[in-house]
Amino acid sequence: MRKYLIAGNWKMNLDRAASVQLADALAALYPAAGETEIAVCPPSVYLDAVRQAVRGSGVKLGAQNMYHLGPGAFTGELCSDMLLDIGCRYVILGHSERRSLMGETDAMVNEKTHAALAAGLIPIVCVGESLEQREAGQTGDVVRSQFEHSLAGLDESQMAGLVIAYEPVWAIGTGKVATPEQAEEVHADLRNLLATRYNSGLAEQVQILYGGSVKSDNASELLSQANVDGALVGGASLKADSFQGIIQAASQIAVN
Ligand code: PGA
Repeated sequence: MRKYLIAGNWKMNLDRAASVQLADALAALYPAAGETEIAVCPPSVYLDAVRQAVRGSGVKLGAQNMYHLGPGAFTGELCSDMLLDIGCRYVILGHSERRSLMGETDAMVNEKTHAALAAGLIPIVCVGESLEQREAGQTGDVVRSQFEHSLAGLDESQMAGLVIAYEPVWAIGTGKVATPEQAEEVHADLRNLLATRYNSGLAEQVQILYGGSVKSDNASELLSQANVDGALVGGASLKADSFQGIIQAASQIAVN
């Protein structure tokens, strides 16, 4: 049985004090690991401060990116060893903002995924189509191609150690959430790809998160879909109460 994972992607938001305040609030709400897995991914400069706040609680730490090589002469980058050293369990890879604004390709995401897995981090690998691609009826092809190339060359045990996030680009930060049916269609497709490339046992194991304007009031219907195993949450993860609402929605479905 897959557990839900609710991961907060704070992006380039909050300052140090606000990061610690939010982390403190979440650690107080979730002092121990529960049925729903919870993670926060603060800006890298605040990873250490957030780690102090959530240490020992049910809230795990994640980074928003990493470089595939290192340590070494890679000015401005962070490597897997550093993320582990600072207490990260997760690392988001191939977020659409990194793909579109920083020029990350599937090949780069693939290198990072291999490096993160080799180090023992859990990559949250993002895929998702643009509005143009959806309107042109290319959603299935785009997501399949990102899956094939971003996740190339992984054996079954490596694949079992990562999380996939389907994030339609048109739904990110726009308030335009995918309908539960739209999300489920892509999630089911991704799980079929896993079953075809590996086997149905592996496919049943891998968590596939939905991301894009998830809020406490739409979380239930999205998370109730058979193949939606959690959420990667941007805006609504910046406040303890809205993030808590999404976690509660997951936990309620899990107990029913
Ligand atoms: P959003 O962002 O929840 O603000 O739409 C999601 C994401 O980019 O991970």
